[in-house]
Amino acid sequence: MLVSKLPNVGTTIFTRMSQLALETGAINLSQGFPDFDGPQALREAVARHVMEGRNQYSPMTGLPSLRQQVAAKIARSYGVQRDADSEITITPGATEAIFCAVQALIRPGDEAIVLDPCYDSYEPSVELAGGRCVHVPLALPDFAVDWQRLSDAISPRTRLIFLNSPHNPSGALLTRADLDKLAELIRGRDIHVISDEVYEHLIYDGQRHASVLAHEELYQRAFVVSSFGKTYHVTGWKTGYVVAPPALTAELRKIHQYVNFCGVTPLQFALADFMAAHPEHVEELPAFYQAKRDLFCDLLAGSRFTFTRAPGTYFQLADYSAIRPDLDDVAMAEWLTREHGVAAIPVSVFYQSAPEDMRLVRFCFAKREETLRQAAEKLSAV
Ligand SMILES: Cc1ncc(COP(=O)(O)O)c(C=O)c1O
Repeated sequence: MLVSKLPNVGTTIFTRMSQLALETGAINLSQGFPDFDGPQALREAVARHVMEGRNQYSPMTGLPSLRQQVAAKIARSYGVQRDADSEITITPGATEAIFCAVQALIRPGDEAIVLDPCYDSYEPSVELAGGRCVHVPLALPDFAVDWQRLSDAISPRTRLIFLNSPHNPSGALLTRADLDKLAELIRGRDIHVISDEVYEHLIYDGQRHASVLAHEELYQRAFVVSSFGKTYHVTGWKTGYVVAPPALTAELRKIHQYVNFCGVTPLQFALADFMAAHPEHVEELPAFYQAKRDLFCDLLAGSRFTFTRAPGTYFQLADYSAIRPDLDDVAMAEWLTREHGVAAIPVSVFYQSAPEDMRLVRFCFAKREETLRQAAEKLSAV
């Protein structure tokens, strides 16, 4: 009999809600992916590279031209130079980068601190390395870091703290002052940071992303993870990257080379071409997604859902207390899908133990205008 190493892991809510949306014909605002395609030039470039025979293994660290484009993007976005050869690694998705970084950092008995609600891959990655997650809830209603609780959660066994900004599911942003506080908190301790910044370019209302890449003290003990999937509307390509100081990168690569060895070659060629030809794509993203957020929120303004506009990511939280306070959020998400034809994600699934009275669901607004209009019409009738 095989005894599970992850006894608490089952089918995720993302798979379940997408499946339910499919079965019921509901509009799927649950799982986080666009219902439109990535740029045509990018897709054409993949086809071209496949046809021109760039179909064999790429270097373990990632295609040099793509790593250089990432370094150039980092320099433009954050004003810092990160070395393409010794600090940047291309991975098959941000998830693989997170997994490898965790394996590099965590030994049996170690603790990793996660800020709930958090992305679902962190905890299994820690458990597979023999570690344990300590859950610290973010403070409601703004999903801000509760510094006292975070400080109290640190023990001599703490080896890692996960950050995620812009934050899934809330859209909350960490500020430069938050990064300074964290740096102060872990100064002199043997604690590293995994900074999940996959939504780094999805920030609204003129705000700027406070990246760990641009915080020298924190960066020296960090793995900073991002995803081409989010930035170029191609989540199914599962291609990402991780940036870390040379010594940390060297350890991560030892693991990455035996988990996957390399990313998908023609995708990397295409991304390198597209990034070189269209640096403006990244600059245009905030306005592109803010228009979607605002359309969705404007259309929901007359509904019985209440919300504050998401400062980042392509997710919008909505409180349904005025509609079905009797339902917990999992039941609410199912009810919305079955009875009202819109699939959403309950927020409690991102928690170890969510507040009892939490009545929040998450909608993904990375959708065509027509999809958002149809969904909002249904939600306004609830
Ligand atoms: C917070 C967060 N981190 C990581 C990922 C995974 O990115 P990738 O698809 O590149 O593995 C996601 C995807 O939804 C996410 O929301």
